[in-house]
Amino acid sequence: MALENLQKCLVMVSIFVSFIACAPSGEHKPVGSSAPNTRKGEKVEFEVVRPVLKKNCASCHPSKSAPDWMDEAQALQYVRNGKLLKRVVVEKTMPQVGSPESLAMTDAERGVIKAWVESVQGGGEESGPVVPVDPVPGPLAPVEKCISCHGVFGDGPAPGVPYLAGQSRPYLDKQLTDYKSGARTDRAMGAMNSIASTLTPEEKTFVLDYFSRLKWGTPPSSEQIPDLERKLKRGEELAKEIGCVSCHASKDGGPITPDWPRVIGQKRDYLLGQLKAFRDGQRPGTTMPGVVEKMTDEDLEALAVFIHRLGLGKKP
Ligand code: HEC
Ligand code: HEC
Ligand code: HEC
Repeated sequence: MALENLQKCLVMVSIFVSFIACAPSGEHKPVGSSAPNTRKGEKVEFEVVRPVLKKNCASCHPSKSAPDWMDEAQALQYVRNGKLLKRVVVEKTMPQVGSPESLAMTDAERGVIKAWVESVQGGGEESGPVVPVDPVPGPLAPVEKCISCHGVFGDGPAPGVPYLAGQSRPYLDKQLTDYKSGARTDRAMGAMNSIASTLTPEEKTFVLDYFSRLKWGTPPSSEQIPDLERKLKRGEELAKEIGCVSCHASKDGGPITPDWPRVIGQKRDYLLGQLKAFRDGQRPGTTMPGVVEKMTDEDLEALAVFIHRLGLGKKP
């Protein structure tokens, strides 16, 4: 650890010395064409960049997604396809925007990565600049079909799009199968039926592995709900009468069996949509259609509000 820090310091110092334009002049200096140039031909070893990757990337890679940045061969693949430079230096979208790692990563550390990439590129006579090729069928390609709506951590904020984080593999699998066969209809956006139908078996395996590993972490809702107290009270009454919580919440708020969904804290509008779909015969289920069969819209709304709010810290 001490050695790594020393290496990092040396690198930072050398970066600041070699790039005069990179003087610490402010946080918002543009990166791209006006970014400082590395001295061509200067060799930067992987051992120099490894501690930077370890500090800033290893908390998520490869556990939340490939690649393994500690593995030089894999890292080199991302030099070649242009993605390392693009995400870390040009766009600055890695580390994940908003993550603690992203706040902690310094421009000097980004500079180290840039210097390494350019050193690898400039290594041979015939190796020209790396041209970012997009889209590249990289290891995460299948998930790219999902994250525009569901978010990289399965907690995409768009209304009507359910959180996937915290759902089990068998549950997610069943839903994709039902969308594909048409047994379940996406009433919110109409997208899931065609998306599920076009996934290859390999892609399906990949996205199931990916999303079922993500942990539930409900973002707090600041949504203003009219008539909140009355809805919560009615929702609680109904939930107790029917026993929603006994099927849907184990101690940690997850389902009591892995084949069933987590609903506590799920988005309110999504919950309401699903309860209506069960009642109106637009979504199949072993249990739910019977549970909500005779309920009015008002009751379903009260239930959706109550179940959603249970996720905001209150004990079931
Ligand atoms: C807080 C978690 C997190 C951290 C920290 C993080 N990443 Fe990522 N990274 C992700 C996730 C999730 C994805 C997949 C979604 C995406 O492409 O935005 C990803 C994707 C990528 C991709 C695109 C891969 C592809 O195949 O398209 C690159 C390149 C990347 N990260 C590089 C890095 C580097 C380099 C670091 C450290 C400097 C880093 N990331 C730190 C979460 C993180
Ligand atoms: C255009 C936005 C969009 C994209 C892209 C998208 N989804 Fe969805 N997804 C939705 C919406 C909206 C719903 C809720 C639909 C409904 O009412 O049944 C949903 C529902 C789901 C559900 C059911 C969740 C539950 O709790 O029952 C799963 C599983 C799912 N999506 C997986 C995926 C996967 C995997 C991908 C990528 C291959 C993907 N989605 C891409 C919007 C999207
Ligand atoms: C006997 C157990 C049981 C009871 C009681 C029960 N559920 Fe369910 N729930 C399930 C199962 C199982 C599913 C998966 C669909 C199916 O097979 O019916 C489900 C699915 C759901 C879904 C869809 C989740 C998603 O991600 O799309 C919602 C919402 C839901 N239940 C809410 C409720 C509410 C609200 C109540 C009380 C009114 C309730 N459930 C009572 C077992 C139960």
